[in-house]
Amino acid sequence: MNILIEYMNIEHLKKIKDKLLNEFDMFWNENVLKTELENPASTYIVALDENNDVVGYAGIWQPIDEAHITNIVTRKDKRQQKVGTLMLEKLIKIAKQRNLESITLEVNVNNIPAINLYKKYKFKEVGIRKKYYYNTDDAIIMTLNLK
Ligand SMILES: CC(C)(COP(=O)(O)OP(=O)(O)OC[C@H]1O[C@@H](n2cnc3c(N)ncnc32)[C@H](O)[C@@H]1OP(=O)(O)O)[C@@H](O)C(=O)NCCC(=O)NCCS
Repeated sequence: MNILIEYMNIEHLKKIKDKLLNEFDMFWNENVLKTELENPASTYIVALDENNDVVGYAGIWQPIDEAHITNIVTRKDKRQQKVGTLMLEKLIKIAKQRNLESITLEVNVNNIPAINLYKKYKFKEVGIRKKYYYNTDDAIIMTLNLK
């Protein structure tokens, strides 16, 4: 699969707005992503396949000199084909180009695919947020130091 990574724009969002819940399996809806696209502190990317279809999206929020990964999701039928890898590599590249100190994120303790992906890129576990998800599941805080 040939994948192209681009910055997300409103046209990409229009293509996936009705598919977010079922095909991407995350609870982010069109309005949340639209707000994120308008947020100057946020940067979103998409992964496009050969047909120019959006097969993944991911974003960072950058309050000061560090980035926070807000979301990274591969379309369900395209998982385990390196789409997540390419998106994470791009986010790391963006953060390095901006000379940021680190990248941080929260991940559900039960989300083994995501934890493995982050560990592969040398993110380290730095803490736990108790009952972070729906007041039930804990989150692991993971950080990649860039300096
Ligand atoms: C996490 C996610 C983005 C990974 O995307 P992907 O396109 O399937 O990832 P890749 O094919 O690039 O896999 C990269 C690495 O992730 C890990 N991984 C991916 N899927 C995995 C699985 N089902 N089980 C275990 N590890 C897995 C592996 O370490 C893999 O490296 P490897 O292929 O060398 O073994 C994807 O599973 C997803 O969209 N999940 C739902 C959304 C989500 O939970 N996002 C994270 C929010 S914190």
